[in-house]
Amino acid sequence: MDFGLKGKTAMVAAASQGLGFAAAQELGREGANLVICSRSKSNIEAAARRIHESTGAEVLPLVADVRETGQIDELIKKAQQQFNQVDILVTNAGGPPAGFFDDISDERWLAGVELTLLSTIRLIRCVLPQMKKNNWGRVVNILSISVKQPISGLLVSNTLRPGLVGLAKSLADEVATTGITVNNVCPGWTKTERVQELLLARADKQGVTPERAGAEIVAGIPMQRMGEPKELAALIAFLCSDRASYVTGTTIPVDGGAYQGLM
Ligand SMILES: NC(=O)c1ccc[n+]([C@@H]2O[C@H](COP(=O)([O-])OP(=O)(O)OC[C@H]3O[C@@H](n4cnc5c(N)ncnc54)[C@H](OP(=O)(O)O)[C@@H]3O)[C@@H](O)[C@H]2O)c1
Repeated sequence: MDFGLKGKTAMVAAASQGLGFAAAQELGREGANLVICSRSKSNIEAAARRIHESTGAEVLPLVADVRETGQIDELIKKAQQQFNQVDILVTNAGGPPAGFFDDISDERWLAGVELTLLSTIRLIRCVLPQMKKNNWGRVVNILSISVKQPISGLLVSNTLRPGLVGLAKSLADEVATTGITVNNVCPGWTKTERVQELLLARADKQGVTPERAGAEIVAGIPMQRMGEPKELAALIAFLCSDRASYVTGTTIPVDGGAYQGLM
């Protein structure tokens, strides 16, 4: 299937590893030019080399912390200087701080708002005018299955991420006649560096091996395994393609069947 992405420019935020990296690599494989960012210069440059070597895509690696509005402005400016425009935006960031209700101070709530909500809003705000001018654009937000089914001990994520579902649906309606689509993808447990760290921490807390901690999680997933980053990336590439031109305002889980609701 030709996704029609050759010559398009895709910006993927928080992409030096994990889900963002996999999304960028998949879009590169489909022929898109790439702009990727993360906070660490060495990490993002290494990621760009890996993507270029594996896909042949032209990749511009940039340092940006998505919590900083000035750094987002710079990011877009440099992307436009290099490729003239950004046709596709995949929003992503690190996970918001964990904790139960009593653990979370106003400072941590506000940090979550900057990292999760505002970073997405600001990234979209920067690319939307040009997408409107071109009558074509794709926005895909990497959220979490927590927007469908809250996860114990992740109060900030459970509270703020559903706000992005509201944002995407509202924005999808606003821009529906302009050739721009806006969608959300919701990973369940997916094997990234972050999940490896989470498993180590869980194992330490429970006094079990990381393998055991992982097995307990997998037992609750109908497919009896965690996802691979490329399985989320495949959906992202489709949603960014010409083929997905009538898909907008959706929120799609990629979780091996873990979400147990009907809708
Ligand atoms: N993996 C899963 O099972 C899963 C499931 C549901 C939801 N999610 C969510 O999906 C997102 C990505 O998860 P992941 O597993 O891919 O995480 P990961 O392996 O830790 O990767 C996070 C990426 O984000 C970058 N990053 C972190 N904070 C940033 C910031 N403030 N500004 C710019 N870049 C930043 C990191 O690079 P630098 O360190 O170089 O900045 C890294 O490239 C997270 O929000 C996570 O909560 C993941």
